[in-house]
Amino acid sequence: MLRQVLLLLAFCALASEAATCCCPPAPERTYTFTAYAQNVIGNGSNNFTDVYVAGVQGEPFSLAQYGTINVFDDPVTTTANPNSTVIGRARGTSFVTALDGSRLLLLYAIQFTSGPYSGSTIVVKGLGNPFIGVPAPLAIVGGTNNFSHATGNMTLTTISQQGSSTVLQATTVYTIRP
Ligand SMILES: *[C@@H]1O[C@H](CO)[C@@H](O)[C@H](O)[C@H]1NC(C)=O
Ligand SMILES: *[C@@H]1O[C@H](CO)[C@@H](O)[C@H](O)[C@H]1NC(C)=O
Ligand SMILES: *[C@@H]1O[C@H](CO)[C@@H](O)[C@H](O)[C@H]1NC(C)=O
Ligand SMILES: *[C@@H]1O[C@H](CO)[C@@H](O)[C@H](O)[C@H]1NC(C)=O
Ligand SMILES: *[C@@H]1O[C@H](CO)[C@@H](O)[C@H](O)[C@H]1NC(C)=O
Repeated sequence: MLRQVLLLLAFCALASEAATCCCPPAPERTYTFTAYAQNVIGNGSNNFTDVYVAGVQGEPFSLAQYGTINVFDDPVTTTANPNSTVIGRARGTSFVTALDGSRLLLLYAIQFTSGPYSGSTIVVKGLGNPFIGVPAPLAIVGGTNNFSHATGNMTLTTISQQGSSTVLQATTVYTIRP
């Protein structure tokens, strides 16, 4: 048995240079985490994190109006309380891409600056409109460091809304296939 293991190890060492290796792959692992984005829609007169940048001429800019484009840079916190620890920023864009306003195309990256994912970025994309109560099941499309080779999903839902402030919950399930 020991001899077989040593032979396998020796073979793996030789084969590691080759394009195809017979060595058993490291097992894939699935992880979950939940974080919160603190979003404040603004127009220059409040402490906004999310701004309207364009929309359909003659229509009011709104997250429920087809054609509206926003850019956001939301603090990401450990709990729903906006005063809880900030662990990163969710930076990206939303485009109202459903004619009836029911879906945004969301495209953003979360850059983690503290906590277990510090120094890592996760990139997500997909459809939904949590601002009007339509959950957004987003696809994980890439990442760095902890999220290198990650696949999975991040579902965004609104858990509270007060005036221009919205707290979004991001429930994430991802798998790393080494
Ligand atoms: C800008 O935002 C402030 C605070 O949310 C709001 O009171 C005001 O009506 C907004 N102005 C415009 C032009 O949308
Ligand atoms: C924006 O935040 C600053 C610093 O926290 C505060 O002093 C200011 O009153 C805020 N402005 C508005 C319009 O909420
Ligand atoms: C967050 O902190 C501010 C300033 O200390 C306070 O006014 C506010 O009530 C706090 N919000 C929550 C949800 O705890
Ligand atoms: C997210 O991924 C998990 C694990 O694969 C799966 O069980 C769940 O249904 C997925 N959710 C969505 C919205 O795709
Ligand atoms: C993130 O990556 C670092 C460095 O590889 C590792 O030490 C840490 O355990 C990872 N954290 C999580 C939550 O996977």
